[in-house]
Amino acid sequence: MFRVVPLLSKRKEYMRKPLIAGNWKMYKTINEAIALANGLKRELLDFDKADIVICPPFTCLSEVYEVIMESEIKLGAQNLCWEKEGAYTGEISPLMLKDSGCEFVIIGHSERRKYFLESNELINKKIKAALVVGLSPICCVGETLEEREAGKTIEIIKNQLEGCLKGFAIEDMLGMVVAYEPVWAIGTGKNATALQAQEVHKFIRNWLAENFSSGFADNVRILYGGSVKPANIKDLMKEADVDGALVGGASLEVSSFTQIVKNAI
Ligand code: 13P
Repeated sequence: MFRVVPLLSKRKEYMRKPLIAGNWKMYKTINEAIALANGLKRELLDFDKADIVICPPFTCLSEVYEVIMESEIKLGAQNLCWEKEGAYTGEISPLMLKDSGCEFVIIGHSERRKYFLESNELINKKIKAALVVGLSPICCVGETLEEREAGKTIEIIKNQLEGCLKGFAIEDMLGMVVAYEPVWAIGTGKNATALQAQEVHKFIRNWLAENFSSGFADNVRILYGGSVKPANIKDLMKEADVDGALVGGASLEVSSFTQIVKNAI
């Protein structure tokens, strides 16, 4: 799962290939999605210095997959159901995502926690369901502004990690990705500074080392998300424990997403 590539960065030691993921959220009709995917394919066809993942809405996964299948760009979804199949009206199963060409799935995004009341317990079930079929979960954690201002950032992240990753063995977690997305930085234009991101990323990696193993922790990619732009990705990526980004708004345009990918290396 973890491709070993030589990198000219602090990540070299552990061979973590950078990963830049675009979360399209609830944007793009099928035609718009095809146009965006075509544009990205044109710009990034053979780009293999980072893993590039795009996560369109469910309705255009298959069409986008048709566009990118012969490129280096990979497909991800934004959510899934924890059950394999059954009477769950309106839900999408892990196998259906695989069937549509997905390799990744975002789980526990703060918007899902906030608007759809997803708990750490539910997120834990979803991560398990993804791993069982070989989808790489991008497990999102992050504190609100009030929590940060109250000095509770690390406590919140720890609590989320404990809940979301409860009961897993290392061998179950192949392909696991963690995304640190401070809620106050999402869609606000106010990104965390590189140092703020590094502090939390380092905590996450140490937590993974303590609770699983240092070998495992060294291989898990930890992404930063929240107002990532072409202008700030370079600084973020200089940090030892920032292995990539989960990009919202700036992933909706060919030029900005392409620039982020290229500036990340
Ligand atoms: P923005 O990049 O728009 O702040 O969104 C971040 C995000 O939520 C990615 O999942």
